[in-house]
Amino acid sequence: MKILVLGPGAREHAIVLALLAEQAEHEIVCAPGNAGIAASGVEVADLAYTDPAAVSAFVADRGFDLVVVGPEAPLVAGVADPLRAAGIPVFGPDAAAAQLEGSKAFAKRIMDEANVPTGRAARVASAEEAGAVLDEFGAPYVVKADGLAAGKGVLVTEDRDAAIEHVATWAPHGEVLVEEFLDGQEVSLFFFADGENVVPLTPAQDYKRIFDGDEGPNTGGMGAYSPLPWLPGGDAAFIQEITETVALPTVRQLAAEGTPFKGLLYCGLIVTAKGIRVIEFNARFGDPETQVVLARLTSPLSRYLLASAQGTLAEVPAPEFSDEPAVIVVVASEGYPGTVVSGRPIAGITEAGQVEGASEGVHLVHAATARTEDGGWIATGGRVLGVVARGESFAAARDRAYDAVGKLSLEGSQHRTDIAARVA
Ligand code: AMP
Ligand code: GLY
Repeated sequence: MKILVLGPGAREHAIVLALLAEQAEHEIVCAPGNAGIAASGVEVADLAYTDPAAVSAFVADRGFDLVVVGPEAPLVAGVADPLRAAGIPVFGPDAAAAQLEGSKAFAKRIMDEANVPTGRAARVASAEEAGAVLDEFGAPYVVKADGLAAGKGVLVTEDRDAAIEHVATWAPHGEVLVEEFLDGQEVSLFFFADGENVVPLTPAQDYKRIFDGDEGPNTGGMGAYSPLPWLPGGDAAFIQEITETVALPTVRQLAAEGTPFKGLLYCGLIVTAKGIRVIEFNARFGDPETQVVLARLTSPLSRYLLASAQGTLAEVPAPEFSDEPAVIVVVASEGYPGTVVSGRPIAGITEAGQVEGASEGVHLVHAATARTEDGGWIATGGRVLGVVARGESFAAARDRAYDAVGKLSLEGSQHRTDIAARVA
């Protein structure tokens, strides 16, 4: 198949590597991709990937059997719409269904209509209005700005003044929700969706905070592992419950409203003492969870991407996953998630973009790297690299991952040392 993967980062790198690992001769183009993706041996093409007209023109010119949209920004911008209208199979929802991620208020409404378990929420229009609502919900306070806010829209705090301040900051830009605090372990579970049916992948857990012990500010994700051996009732029962109570009702509700969801439904969940609750939906693969989920996938990824795009998921066998655990440790630049020091050289990466001297079962995904004129590597952003390792146990996978992290060097870089420690 001739496949276009849209997006610049580590998630797209993981998708490309999974496609390359298939027993099939795909022609893969990634746009805009990055230096690490190029080093994996696929074509990267410079493209304004969030611009529907630019993407449509590129696809019309080059011709693809399948377009896979990685990040949320192009989906919310409507990159999928004209492609789908032109009859091209696209993995990724139209703009209307991408509102599931693009608007927290939209997601809450869909969940209400579909009876999906989630935290109570109330809309507040101003800081003046916020005080009474915060007091009703009680501490810790959860305040969420509507719309894509690049991870900066959600504040969870014990500090009532800070919560009011967050409302004041975001209220002028759109709706703000105050939400019930949900206490428990977080789980990410992905589903392929074809507009009508869903097919589950396998659960993973993300580490959102920058420092060990879940301290410090939220980030885009500093690490992840899969599977989750501690799930109540085991994997299968958990997946079945989320399929029946969350994913299917949500996809059916969107279909009933005339906005079918074809792509990846990301269910962000908290396992509370009172049951499982949805904290968010995303309309695309999660990063960095995708890197460990796809590292365990043993069925061909393209089969599910295409079936989702074509509405034929009911006809394909369930995907299979290795029992071997997978772990990812993210390496970030100095300053992240605040002001980042960019442009520093990275040592320890081969010509193929992998870790020099890493043990078997380890691979590297690139989030923000570039080549220098003399063939070296530099860091170009906040989260720079992800070291993914599989092993026969969590302890083995962790040892391999951290051993490889130790072979990389980037001045001032940061990584968490406790990824998957709770399961090893
Ligand atoms: P979101 O963008 O909605 O996923 O929120 C970012 C992070 O804030 C989540 O991954 C959680 O760690 C935390 N969070 C969001 N909503 C809640 C909630 N209702 N209760 C507790 N933590 C939450
Ligand atoms: N891992 C969190 C996200 O992809 O949104």
